[in-house]
Amino acid sequence: MISVNGLSKTYGTQTVFNDLNFSIKKGDIIAIIGPSGTGKSSLLRCLNYLEVPTSGSITIDDLTVDSERYTKQQVLKLRQYTSFVFQNFALFKNKTAIQNIMESLLVVKKMPFAEAENKAMNILSEVGLADKRDVYPAMLSGGQQQRVGIGRALATDSKVMLLDEPTSALDPEIVADILTLLRQLAKKEMTMMVVTHELRFAKQLASEVWFMSDGELVERDTPHQLFSSPKDPRTQRFLEHLGA
Ligand SMILES: Nc1ncnc2c1ncn2[C@@H]1O[C@H](COP(=O)(O)OP(=O)(O)OP(=O)(O)O)[C@@H](O)[C@H]1O
Ligand SMILES: [Mg+2]
Repeated sequence: MISVNGLSKTYGTQTVFNDLNFSIKKGDIIAIIGPSGTGKSSLLRCLNYLEVPTSGSITIDDLTVDSERYTKQQVLKLRQYTSFVFQNFALFKNKTAIQNIMESLLVVKKMPFAEAENKAMNILSEVGLADKRDVYPAMLSGGQQQRVGIGRALATDSKVMLLDEPTSALDPEIVADILTLLRQLAKKEMTMMVVTHELRFAKQLASEVWFMSDGELVERDTPHQLFSSPKDPRTQRFLEHLGA
């Protein structure tokens, strides 16, 4: 479903990652873990061209985007195929919960207003916020704001959700609620790539855990294998350090 070939990202003279190659299948839930500054966020951002890769190509179903010869149309399509959930929610502050979710339906999908409203309302129910439809982000808790963030990603009917530390700005007791919501989505065969420091997520939800270090995809395995018998010494050290 998704395959990435020779993907590299350089900022100035700093190479963040070089020649990454991987593929994932529909319904896969990938948890990406690894030390700070390793390139996890950069990788996710490159997958939806929030950052343009320095080289390499990304294929999702019928679409291939090659960093050396991409078009604006391909990037728009890539952004429809992928949706992004941010650590800091990144909601429109001057729009209510339902308006935040409707935005892409109206603007990108050009959906008629009533249909968009209807769909957004269903999504608000799905993320457990039906009663907050007309509330602005400033009046929502962190967990509620992230539910809107996830709802916004769901609205686009993307093929894969990219989540960059979706729970790290939240209080511990709220994290479990968001994990439950993500678990419901996982059950519906949503494909997800989640950068997370939340080992519960990696252990309980992921079909595969990837350990990234120094811009390399060091090791990928089932959660059970990776946590119980990591093969690479760098993975072993990282997990020991976390007390995992
Ligand atoms: N926009 C940018 N311009 C220049 N350098 C950047 C930019 N974004 C990231 N970097 C650098 O790229 C490297 C990888 O950063 P990245 O944010 O991808 O790491 P990360 O694994 O997500 O780390 P963390 O766990 O702390 O979020 C870092 O050295 C960072 O300073
Ligand atoms: Mg990051």
